[in-house]
Amino acid sequence: MTSSHLNPPRARSSRDGLLRFARSAAIFFRGFLEHPGMVASVVPSSKSTIEAMLAPLDWSRCRLFVEYGPGVGTFTLPILDRLPADATLLAIDTNARFVDYLRETIDDPRLKVVLGSAEDVESFVRAAGHTHADYVISGLPFSSLPDDVAERIVAATYAVTRDGGAFMTYQFRPTARDLTQAHFERVETGLALWNVPPCVLAWGWKQDALAAREAAE
Ligand SMILES: C[S@@+](CC[C@H](N)C(=O)[O-])C[C@H]1O[C@@H](n2cnc3c(N)ncnc32)[C@H](O)[C@@H]1O
Repeated sequence: MTSSHLNPPRARSSRDGLLRFARSAAIFFRGFLEHPGMVASVVPSSKSTIEAMLAPLDWSRCRLFVEYGPGVGTFTLPILDRLPADATLLAIDTNARFVDYLRETIDDPRLKVVLGSAEDVESFVRAAGHTHADYVISGLPFSSLPDDVAERIVAATYAVTRDGGAFMTYQFRPTARDLTQAHFERVETGLALWNVPPCVLAWGWKQDALAAREAAE
């Protein structure tokens, strides 16, 4: 079952949809002006980027989904649309304006929005009552982050992802893909051309321990 069965539609008419779009675009742009290095983009991700990123996932197995850098919720809403009714989406952002906006505008009991850094994902996951995440998606501008911060985030992400789960990134530069390749056993990549600007997609799969043992035998 998806969230559309649990909650009233978020935009009841095309006028509501347009208003939400205009407000979120204004908040996103303001967030960019205030923290250009942390937001690193003036335009949220495109619909085709979102669909490509979320397509390979096994949603029926998902209990905990983590999102880094949700911004104004460009991925958050499509993730909620696909997430099982009893699962949780934990969204982590360092920008208080974006966190407040998401808390105010998305009324869904499965969504927990926390103000903080993705570096601390393990403690946020524990605080949400879980040991591991099934999937982690990142909208972080990895190439603008200090190297040690970027490295710590991907190492903590590997630790928190369950065997068989995945870490997904979409970024204008290949930094996130390269870091994923350094940590995850199997990495698939793609290119989203219908994005402003085009971006590099990567899915880092954490090797299922059982499958790894069988492959080694
Ligand atoms: C390019 S925006 C992505 C927005 C949105 N996910 C999208 O696809 O349009 C980057 C986001 O990462 C957030 N951010 C930057 N550093 C962060 C960190 N260390 N932990 C969590 N969020 C961070 C910013 O505040 C911003 O919301």
